[in-house]
Amino acid sequence: NIDAVVFDLDGVITDTAHYHFLAWRQLAEELGIVIDEVFNERLKGVSRMDSLELILQEGNQQHNFSLAQKEEMAAKKNLHYCEFLKELTPDDVLPGILNLIADIKSEGISIGLASVSKNANTVLEALELQKVFDFCADAAKISKSKPDPEIFLTACNGLGALPQRSIGIEDAAAGIEAIKASEMFAVGVGSSLHKADYQVENTDQLCWDKIKEAHKNWISI
Ligand code: G6P
Ligand code: MG
Repeated sequence: NIDAVVFDLDGVITDTAHYHFLAWRQLAEELGIVIDEVFNERLKGVSRMDSLELILQEGNQQHNFSLAQKEEMAAKKNLHYCEFLKELTPDDVLPGILNLIADIKSEGISIGLASVSKNANTVLEALELQKVFDFCADAAKISKSKPDPEIFLTACNGLGALPQRSIGIEDAAAGIEAIKASEMFAVGVGSSLHKADYQVENTDQLCWDKIKEAHKNWISI
């Protein structure tokens, strides 16, 4: 009795989370702001403009720029990020993901995508995964980024799935919060996702039987 499994993209399906970080770090450097991987955890799952705000706040520069200037900076970061995307091939799907997807599909359970990235389609195409997902929530139509549940609820709705009977998979703390706010079962990939209902260190530990087992125990709590 699982309706659907909804995946985050960056950092779950492929390691584009790292490309986002490299592109932001370069922009931050140009502004004299230092960001590291620890700070980057706060950017995961957060929209482009919200990420820029967090970086400017980190450097105490949030009041220094007009909206037009901020949009220009965000566009610059995106250009840099898109350069990285040109390198992306189907070999860049993270370990364990294709097996997991095949196992889920073999049980007739639908698969959705919940990424607030406006580059999600480009990434899926480069990975040759666009046909694998039964429904991808459109980031352009989402007004609130994670931790708001909007994108996960939109994905469930598009799949005709009840959130309470669905599972979300995320690498970001904001993403886990969004899944929980949607009343879904939250699977975390990473090391400090304390609010996840079930957690693994990396994607090759994502085993469908183990996820189902954890989900069953969660239901019976
Ligand atoms: C995902 C990533 C974030 C990124 C956001 C927007 O949530 O985890 O790091 O900022 O998408 O991505 P975009 O490609 O639209 O700039
Ligand atoms: Mg992510």
